[in-house]
Amino acid sequence: MVGISMGMAGTSFGEDLVLPQPDTKGTVSVEEALQARRSHRRFTEKGVTKDELSQLLWAAYGVTRHTSGVDFKTAPSAGALYPLDVYAVVGEGGTAGIKAGVYRYLPEDHRLRPVRDGDQREDLGRAALQQMWLAKAPVVLVITGEYRRTTGKYGNRGQRYVLMESGNVSQNIFLQAEALGLKAGIVGAFHDREVSRVLGGPAEHEPLLIMPVGHIR
Ligand SMILES: Cc1cc2nc3c(=O)[nH]c(=O)nc-3n(C[C@H](O)[C@H](O)[C@H](O)COP(=O)(O)O)c2cc1C
Repeated sequence: MVGISMGMAGTSFGEDLVLPQPDTKGTVSVEEALQARRSHRRFTEKGVTKDELSQLLWAAYGVTRHTSGVDFKTAPSAGALYPLDVYAVVGEGGTAGIKAGVYRYLPEDHRLRPVRDGDQREDLGRAALQQMWLAKAPVVLVITGEYRRTTGKYGNRGQRYVLMESGNVSQNIFLQAEALGLKAGIVGAFHDREVSRVLGGPAEHEPLLIMPVGHIR
């Protein structure tokens, strides 16, 4: 796949999108973000910018230290095995310059890989036991886990590690959203298979948490 700048107009859906470089300095303290964090359910149609989406994905699971063997990330991981993936379900007009569709975040390259064309938010809301409020958010992040990446080393105990790690990632998203002046929600009630179908990724990427992000009324 050819990497292209997200700022280019008229790009076809099949190419990877290079995300803007994330900031490692902000103006909101961790304490302020913690104090303000809440689960939100009433989003407006206002979109999030490419810079904001880039920042949210980096905070979720971005690479913070490259070594020859492992790319260490913003969230801790048992054995540094990193069993998670983060998908971005971008709505129509959800992020200027990015077509509506489902994208998989590639932390090592800080890119988005297009997976499915078109606005899939309504289907995602239906898959989440009709929690249609989440389809109003301009962007919905979905954390998936590939259990065998961790159970291969830790056996059955690895399953709990994968779930714990998804919690780390979700808190990263909450806090980064607050620091950007955005708001996030969190949804664990959904039909796994239906969410997997909406995402269109490999069957091993089992959905763990859904996080709508945007602006609130
Ligand atoms: C694992 C998990 C699953 C959740 N699932 C849902 C959900 O499906 N729908 C929803 O509206 N809220 C969901 N929530 C949000 C909780 O209702 C919320 O965190 C709780 O009411 C505390 O509020 P706060 O997050 O604003 O502090 C979930 C939270 C967690 C941690």
